[in-house]
Amino acid sequence: MTRIGSRRGAEYARILATGARRPDRIVTNDEICEVLDSSDQWIRERTGIITRRFAAPGETVVDLAAPAAQQAIERAGLAPADVDAVLVATSTHMVSMPSAAALTAARIGAGQATTFDLSTACAGFTHGVAVANDLIRGGSARHVLLVGVDRMTDVIDPRDRGSAMIFGDGAGAAVIGPSDTPGIGPTIWGGDADQWEALYQTASWTEYRDAVQAGGEPDWPVLTMMGPKIFRWAVWQMADVARKALEAAEVDVADLAAFVPHQANIRIIDQMAKQLKVPEHVVVARDVVDAGNTTAGSIPLALDRVVTEGQVPSGGLALLIGFGAGLSYSAQVVALP
Ligand SMILES: CC(C)(COP(=O)(O)OP(=O)(O)OC[C@H]1O[C@@H](n2cnc3c(N)ncnc32)[C@H](O)[C@@H]1OP(=O)(O)O)[C@@H](O)C(=O)NCCC(=O)NCCS
Repeated sequence: MTRIGSRRGAEYARILATGARRPDRIVTNDEICEVLDSSDQWIRERTGIITRRFAAPGETVVDLAAPAAQQAIERAGLAPADVDAVLVATSTHMVSMPSAAALTAARIGAGQATTFDLSTACAGFTHGVAVANDLIRGGSARHVLLVGVDRMTDVIDPRDRGSAMIFGDGAGAAVIGPSDTPGIGPTIWGGDADQWEALYQTASWTEYRDAVQAGGEPDWPVLTMMGPKIFRWAVWQMADVARKALEAAEVDVADLAAFVPHQANIRIIDQMAKQLKVPEHVVVARDVVDAGNTTAGSIPLALDRVVTEGQVPSGGLALLIGFGAGLSYSAQVVALP
């Protein structure tokens, strides 16, 4: 019987460069509280958020993804034609087809690449790192452009005290390519899908349409979440996942240059860092303070900031962990570009 031919890719992969697109409009807690029954002081104390960015009317996830992607490709010293695969992690691309990845690829001149979206909410970027690593090492791609982007303002109810103050819009990107040395550690990932009701959209788009067609005035479907439940899940169970990612990579927490967890709430970040016994010299990303929670954009934006602000050495190690709706999570140690 004829044996199927096979191929192997690069021995290892690593992040070559990052990019970011933070929307222009800065939104203060006071502005949030013009419609939300809350206060600047409460939001600062309970979430750590002082400002977040909102995309302009009509500025879509593709509009946010494209400049972040271009910046990452330029910094990697590549041309768009060098990209073999474009992956966009997002939950707020508001058309079912084509994918945000296809539209982003076309926009930036990487139309030849294979394209697909990843829908794992706040774990989207770290899931994407795992997929990109396997694509490159498996020989399916040489250079992967990975974007994490969300325009959360389309899916939040500005009057909901349980969620409105947390979210923002933004895009972060990374170019991942071949490497002679290991640049991405084993990914620890999984889920707790039985708890999906902790964070979900209140109605589907078709339910919304049907209600309108039936003559009703339904509310726009929005995200709703059990904040304290997610808080506890994140603090207690995600610290353990992060620990396993360190163990799998055979890296001691003291050897990290940076800890870049999902930017959901400063209290979650600080609690996780405490449980992991992250030492003082390790930079802990606290992008949430002026970005809010940008869902799939959160980790790549925070990563881009620690890298471009020179807070960490090139080649230093960072522990990434994403977690959220699903419930889903993924974590890995990466070498910084
Ligand atoms: C949503 C979140 C900020 C709420 O903070 P919390 O400390 O858990 O607050 P609670 O819901 O327990 O409420 C505490 C008190 O604040 C009040 N409160 C809740 N939301 C409020 C708001 N927006 N403004 C003012 N007061 C508020 C509550 O009514 C309650 O008052 P009480 O003690 O008099 O009953 C927090 O749970 C959180 O960040 N969870 C994680 C969410 C998350 O990460 N989601 C994304 C997943 S990736």
